[in-house]
Amino acid sequence: MDSASRAEYLRAIGIDLWVPRHGPRVPPLAEPAAGPGPGAAAAEAGDPVEAKWQALWSEVRDCRKCPLHESRTQGVLGVGHREASWMVIGEAPGAEEDRRGEPFVGRAGQLLDAMLRAIGLSRGSNVYIANILKSRPPGNRDPRPEEVAACLPYLHRQIELVRPKLLLAVGRIAAQTLLSSDAPLARLRGAVHHFGERNTPLVVTYHPAYLLRSPADKRKAWEDLKFARSVMAQIDGDRT
Ligand code: URA
Repeated sequence: MDSASRAEYLRAIGIDLWVPRHGPRVPPLAEPAAGPGPGAAAAEAGDPVEAKWQALWSEVRDCRKCPLHESRTQGVLGVGHREASWMVIGEAPGAEEDRRGEPFVGRAGQLLDAMLRAIGLSRGSNVYIANILKSRPPGNRDPRPEEVAACLPYLHRQIELVRPKLLLAVGRIAAQTLLSSDAPLARLRGAVHHFGERNTPLVVTYHPAYLLRSPADKRKAWEDLKFARSVMAQIDGDRT
């Protein structure tokens, strides 16, 4: 390993780099917590994509398809650039996300931001972030199959609207759900899978909340991120 790669590697797996301190504050592009939202005028003016986003948002906001609507503060749709090349998919909002209406804004979110920065990405520019579930399961328990079944169509519509070049599934729940697999995460890492009718390439890595509990696995997560970056480079190369 040359010294530049080594420095990059050490920075990336080290807590210093992965816990952002003075990183630029990127304005969140979360969906509005209430009201018609900034795209309502565009939707009314006949922008069909904007109209689809607006419809999706208001359905998630008013959703009562599963009992989670009784305990949640609000539905959490997504954040980031709506034409992003990368789409990161997590599990479900936690307490902080439920309160603020934006995915990955708690401690795990800070680590996710640092992981993304390590491969040159940020949630405000080239990434869109969403979850399998749009409502917080009480006590952060695992999503139940019936909750996933009720909520998944929203994510499918989001993916169809963003049309990312690459999906990054973080954690077992996201990976197993998107791949309709019950294989352990360790078996799903390190390969290019494909999702949906567009066969969108999908790469799997650890959930940042898991990495906070098991920092020794940051090394493997860094391998996954470099792998995802190389897959994207290949996709971009193939298209030019
Ligand atoms: N964990 C997730 O999977 N998603 C979030 O939005 C926050 C924590």
